[in-house]
Amino acid sequence: MKKTQPWHLDMKDMQIFRIPRQRPPLRKPTWIIVLICMVSVFLIFTYVYPPQNSGECHIFSYRGCKTFKSWLPPLTRELTDEEVASRLVIREILNAPPVIRDSHKVAFMFLTPGALPFEELWDKFFQGHEGKFSVYVHASKDRPLHFSRYFINREVHSEKVDWGKISMVDAERRLLTYALKDPDNQHFVLLSDSCIPLRDFDYVYNYLINTNVSFIDSFVDPGPHGNGRYSEHMLPEVEKEDFRKGAQWFTMKRKHAIIIMADYLYYAKFRDYCRPGMEHNRNCYSDEHYLPTFFHMFDPSGVANWSVTHVDWSEGKWHPKSYTAKDVTYELMKNITSIMDSLHVTSDERREVQMKPCMWNGDPRPCYLFARKFLPETLDNLMLLFDNYTSISN
Ligand SMILES: *[C@@H]1O[C@H](CO)[C@@H](O)[C@H](O)[C@H]1NC(C)=O
Ligand SMILES: *[C@@H]1O[C@H](CO)[C@@H](O)[C@H](O)[C@H]1NC(C)=O
Ligand SMILES: *[C@@H]1O[C@H](CO)[C@@H](O)[C@H](O)[C@H]1NC(C)=O
Ligand SMILES: *[C@@H]1O[C@H](CO)[C@@H](O)[C@H](O)[C@H]1NC(C)=O
Repeated sequence: MKKTQPWHLDMKDMQIFRIPRQRPPLRKPTWIIVLICMVSVFLIFTYVYPPQNSGECHIFSYRGCKTFKSWLPPLTRELTDEEVASRLVIREILNAPPVIRDSHKVAFMFLTPGALPFEELWDKFFQGHEGKFSVYVHASKDRPLHFSRYFINREVHSEKVDWGKISMVDAERRLLTYALKDPDNQHFVLLSDSCIPLRDFDYVYNYLINTNVSFIDSFVDPGPHGNGRYSEHMLPEVEKEDFRKGAQWFTMKRKHAIIIMADYLYYAKFRDYCRPGMEHNRNCYSDEHYLPTFFHMFDPSGVANWSVTHVDWSEGKWHPKSYTAKDVTYELMKNITSIMDSLHVTSDERREVQMKPCMWNGDPRPCYLFARKFLPETLDNLMLLFDNYTSISN
């Protein structure tokens, strides 16, 4: 019996328990261990699911009994103490009434190895909107030289980031920690050095401050680059059917950022069992699975399931398309800003394309506020076109 297997206790298990003698002979010690396990699981099961007509439920009022059950998912096993505690904290944070504040800011969190080639463009984007945003920079390799007043002295304590490793998630969490210290920050955006804004500040601000969800990308990919990365070592906390994939570039509401601060249990599962170079030459990248899986499990209707940062995977290579200076035209920007459907492609041989309209508080709206990956050479074109393409109305 593998410790990592969840217990799916049903009638078949019960029959095995009752008629052990008819089973092929097992060596005695194994047989005894199996028997003890069966008995203890049976006892736990009857404790968690008392028979309907037993007195257990009447100890609480009927409502208390129902509430107790409804905040837990249907149980096929007993949750560990850590899981019970974790779910309790998540539920409390999700159900807490929103704090009304006079000032709401969007935190723009830049995750970069060093230089920020689009600082000038972002400076233009932020100009005139003081008091409605804050900037944080995590520079994992070289300390960038800033010239924009919005970026100077905005670096948080930074550590080395290895591509695809947990240090990437650690950097995201670090940015969230520093950004959460400002109680006015209500929405948190993760951006890379190759990201650019697609809209003017007011559009982005209103889109994010007035949304009722976090824009966290999340979908089921049955292929090798999705579920193929799942490891059963993540059991019992993370089951394969809950495993999700999504781009790392999120935007997040404050309550979700706090939940991430509070989580250690699920974070540790991904740190230990979703990393490059695992057994059987498998690679798993926590930055593409931890948040998509976590929010699918605990607040599925609280996330949009797409990222507001556009990226072009249509070339079908290992890396998305990098836009060059000659790619950047008014037509390209118009094309990207007018996309109304989010797109996911599975990595199995069927290459199934999942398309869904982007809904903003119940109404269809263009999907994207930001885009990547732009090469530094595109800066001049983007500066020239910025006022033009950000005034495209749709
Ligand atoms: C996101 O996907 C989940 C399933 O994982 C679904 O329950 C939820 O309704 C979706 N969210 C939105 C906003 O459609
Ligand atoms: C913009 O979209 C149109 C229609 O889909 C396509 O024909 C054109 O090549 C696109 N242009 C650019 C620059 O992406
Ligand atoms: C967000 O708003 C839409 C439309 O009003 C509604 O259908 C949806 O349930 C809301 N989602 C959340 C998480 O409040
Ligand atoms: C932006 O530039 C294009 C092409 O140069 C032009 O056709 C269009 O009218 C301009 N749009 C705005 C809003 O200035």
